[in-house]
Amino acid sequence: MNATINLENKHFPVLLKELISIISPLYGGTFIDCTFGQGGYSEKILESKENNIIALDRDKDVLSNTSKFYKKYNKRFEFYNLKFSQLDQIKFKKHKIKGIIFDLGFSLSQIKNSQKGLSFSDKGNLNMKMGINDFSANEVISNMDEKNLTKVFKVFGDEKYSKKIAREIVIKRKDKAIKTEDLVEIIDNVKKYQKTKIHNSTKVFQALRILVNKEISELINGLINSFNLIPVGGIIAVVSFHSIEDRIVKFFFKNYSEQKNSSRYLPELEVSKRCFKLLSKKPILPSLSEIRQNPPSRSAKLRYGIKTNDKCNFSEFREKFKNLINVEDLR
Ligand SMILES: C[S@@+](CC[C@H](N)C(=O)[O-])C[C@H]1O[C@@H](n2cnc3c(N)ncnc32)[C@H](O)[C@@H]1O
Repeated sequence: MNATINLENKHFPVLLKELISIISPLYGGTFIDCTFGQGGYSEKILESKENNIIALDRDKDVLSNTSKFYKKYNKRFEFYNLKFSQLDQIKFKKHKIKGIIFDLGFSLSQIKNSQKGLSFSDKGNLNMKMGINDFSANEVISNMDEKNLTKVFKVFGDEKYSKKIAREIVIKRKDKAIKTEDLVEIIDNVKKYQKTKIHNSTKVFQALRILVNKEISELINGLINSFNLIPVGGIIAVVSFHSIEDRIVKFFFKNYSEQKNSSRYLPELEVSKRCFKLLSKKPILPSLSEIRQNPPSRSAKLRYGIKTNDKCNFSEFREKFKNLINVEDLR
């Protein structure tokens, strides 16, 4: 579950104070909010009159959140219903881009919208499309073969019972279309209603969501597009929520950081790998008081880097996560 959700059903942009303290030294220009959602980050950045926001979101339902922004901030705000892997499609006129921010995952209003079928508490057709998708979870569960279903649950959900769950799905779907509640029941039966800390269906639902929304290639392409877009001195900041996302973000910043082998006994890094200055190697985590106020924020991690060079080669980045992309392409 995403960290912008709290028990009182109130929207709390996660790590907002920390994000603002990182980007505020660069104030006086345009920031790209790649995951607009309910606009929590954008609104805070626009409070400073010298800032502009270009916002993106793949979900066209967030358009209803943008009208108050257009009204209040006028020309200082622009919104595009695009995925962040499509950042390179935007024509940036005379903007001086200072920073690009990502708050990954889904929002409170998305999980509350039962039509999207993101939650295992929903009833009805499986869906999980966040917006601008090629296929739904229903198509995956109805058509994907047992071997590939097993792989998806294992790789994207780290689900111990992947094989058994996949086999049961293939047997059950011969009789009837599998809806959200049926999938939950299949998983409960396979796991024999074990009582664990997390809901029995969490891992399988996470795996399906990653596949349907192609979250891995989105993130990799979004990060590379961001790098190509910002000038030297600009900042890229990413809040991630699950371990696969954080592995990708961590590699992106650390592997291409200037400090990677700072020892004088090691050979100098090639220019194409010295692309970021990192002010901290460790991620920034929510404070105890934020976690108390908004418990799901406990899994959030904020990482960021300042671009130091234009000539970066990301082929090693793509290669490193090729196995994950291959699983995304199974469908
Ligand atoms: C956690 S919410 C963002 C919340 C936002 N920071 C706020 O304060 O309201 C994530 C948003 O990112 C959007 N999103 C997820 N993946 C995306 C992608 N690949 N491209 C564009 N938007 C995406 C989702 O539709 C969702 O609205």
